[in-house]
Amino acid sequence: MEVQEAIGTRRSYRFLRPYKPVELGKIQRMLEAARRASFWGNVGALRAVVVRRHHVSREIMDSLFAAVAGYQIDIAPVIIVWYLDWHALEVQGDRLHELVDARALGMDKEATHDALDEILIPFFKAAMDHIKTTGLTELDCGQGIAQATLVAVDQGLGTCCLGSAREEAIRQNLGLPDSAKVLVLQTVGYPAESKEAGGQRPRQPFSEMFHLDAVGNPFPEDPEVVEEMKESGLIQEPAPLPWREDELKFIQKALDIPDVG
Ligand SMILES: Cc1cc2nc3c(=O)[nH]c(=O)nc-3n(C[C@H](O)[C@H](O)[C@H](O)COP(=O)(O)O)c2cc1C
Repeated sequence: MEVQEAIGTRRSYRFLRPYKPVELGKIQRMLEAARRASFWGNVGALRAVVVRRHHVSREIMDSLFAAVAGYQIDIAPVIIVWYLDWHALEVQGDRLHELVDARALGMDKEATHDALDEILIPFFKAAMDHIKTTGLTELDCGQGIAQATLVAVDQGLGTCCLGSAREEAIRQNLGLPDSAKVLVLQTVGYPAESKEAGGQRPRQPFSEMFHLDAVGNPFPEDPEVVEEMKESGLIQEPAPLPWREDELKFIQKALDIPDVG
């Protein structure tokens, strides 16, 4: 699948086949895609525990409680618990030196190593408490999770991100370090719904979201480019497709899902 089509096809798939396990190789590819994401200072603070519903205790599953549409946790064969490890930021200097050795950063190798030790690393250390509040690290983790999601779609899998309400319970049950911040729980499995999942979900208007040169000057939308994106699959039929109600009724019965939950 081309990347534009993967982006267009990606939905939050809330209805997964509870009985069909996911091959670990497919999860491995998702994790590798996440690992390949770009991080400020190359810190790589994203971590994950892959939880297989059929292999873990009820206590662990209960700790993965989700407040909105919580039934998803009970039907998903796999839940990836994505978290951020603040400890990675403490050894960021090592990552910068690695970038120099990889010849990705700096021109003269020795001079750049020296400049890192004398200027840049002390600067980052002094600013670290502030950097943690900027959201940069969470943003980088989000990019990793997004890449993993696209690889999931490419492999015929469905996923949905769920906000997590029980950080301490998750920390204890899964053995996360004290330096961990739970980001999101991502259900993974084979969709029980059609690939379209009711159609592409609504988005805020393009012209309200994006600007050219300054706010107040909407970024121009070229109709020809829109047509191209329809052809590539990046833009697809909007939800709800005419048969979505019937699909939802069918899925609700099959998966025994309450009207609200
Ligand atoms: C960080 C994050 C947290 C989310 N949390 C939940 C959640 O707790 N429950 C849920 O049903 N959907 C959750 N979603 C899914 C969004 O509601 C969904 O993305 C939105 O409805 C748009 O639909 P789409 O992803 O299919 O385009 C979450 C999505 C993200 C990115």
